[in-house]
Amino acid sequence: MFKKTPISYVLRITSTLFPAQKPLVFSGPGSTQKLADFMSEGGTKRPLLVTDRFLLEHGMLEDVLAFLKGQGCEVSIFDGIIPNPTFAVVEAGLTISRANDCDSVLAIGGGSAIDAAKVIAAAHPDPRPLNKLVGTLKFKTAPLPFYVAPTTSGSGSETTFAAVISETDTHKKRFFVSPKLLPFATALDPDLLKSLPPAMSAAVGMDALTHAIEAFISTNRFDESDRDARMAIALLIRYLPQAVADGADLTAREKVAQASFLAGAAFTKSSLGYVHAISHQISAQYNTPHGLANAVLLPRVLRFNLPAVIDRLAQLEQMLAPQERSTEAEAAARFVTRIDALSDELGIPDTIADLRWTDFAKITQDALAEARISYAVPRVMRAHHVEKILSAVQIGRRDLAFD
Ligand SMILES: [Fe+2]
Repeated sequence: MFKKTPISYVLRITSTLFPAQKPLVFSGPGSTQKLADFMSEGGTKRPLLVTDRFLLEHGMLEDVLAFLKGQGCEVSIFDGIIPNPTFAVVEAGLTISRANDCDSVLAIGGGSAIDAAKVIAAAHPDPRPLNKLVGTLKFKTAPLPFYVAPTTSGSGSETTFAAVISETDTHKKRFFVSPKLLPFATALDPDLLKSLPPAMSAAVGMDALTHAIEAFISTNRFDESDRDARMAIALLIRYLPQAVADGADLTAREKVAQASFLAGAAFTKSSLGYVHAISHQISAQYNTPHGLANAVLLPRVLRFNLPAVIDRLAQLEQMLAPQERSTEAEAAARFVTRIDALSDELGIPDTIADLRWTDFAKITQDALAEARISYAVPRVMRAHHVEKILSAVQIGRRDLAFD
């Protein structure tokens, strides 16, 4: 049923020639300490800590800082991270890193801190200006060893080798893509996640679910990405509602963090799809949080994909409800309505309030362009399909039918 697009073949060759590695993982309460111990065992003496000011001011990093100092480390701190970090933010971090001759980078924060820290670690030994490093495979020198403890569960940045940094003046997003951006090790520590507010936990969790689903229905799939995506989906369906309802449930928080990690690994290996292609344009236009835009779009885009991926969605539904007996088409349809029900349970809104029909043409054009060059999609969208989805988002309607 899949129809391969030209980019599908390019991605297939790239993924096969350059198989993605995964960071070493420490998981569970206290895993940030284990990560710090691992850094110390590896000879770290002058780490740069890249983090959000909020975490420092609320004392959430005291234990790990005390541990590193107890190991004889001189820790430099860069806490100038902002949402959608710019080149200027990365340059400010690089100035600290180089001035203190740092020998490693530890990011403790959300996707913005991790992305900025990735580029700081990789650019530290490279004298070229940052704009010369934008793009794919531009880093030539060995990066500083890079470690991560995420404080949100969704972006998957802790396991991907891409970073998004905005131009300082225009705020246009620029992509850095290189295996040299991959973290060496990561801590999935629920103690760092328990204060994430419910609405944000829901939105970033749905981002992780979108990564896993788009990877699973990509035409560039592999056994490994299938396995990671299936596990991520199983964990998110089971534990995301509980992690949102009770943020202090450390088991649920850890399972969702593991799911986010696996979903990030799955889409790094395979690909994303139209949910991301459209949501990126909406976020660029209205500053809509990435996870929220994805969460709103996911049920609509799934309905567009449905005719081309009945077998794949049926497999997911049979994994989640093996006792049910039905046809593939019925199971696939149940999976889509399961996503509706999950969205409702998590309080995901039906609409994006800022969305204006006068912007539909630009969003559509840019979304189709992004998908054409980046994603191995199972069914090719046309402009009228995107506009139908945007209209449905605007009026809060999910139950769409596509020819
Ligand atoms: Fe995403």
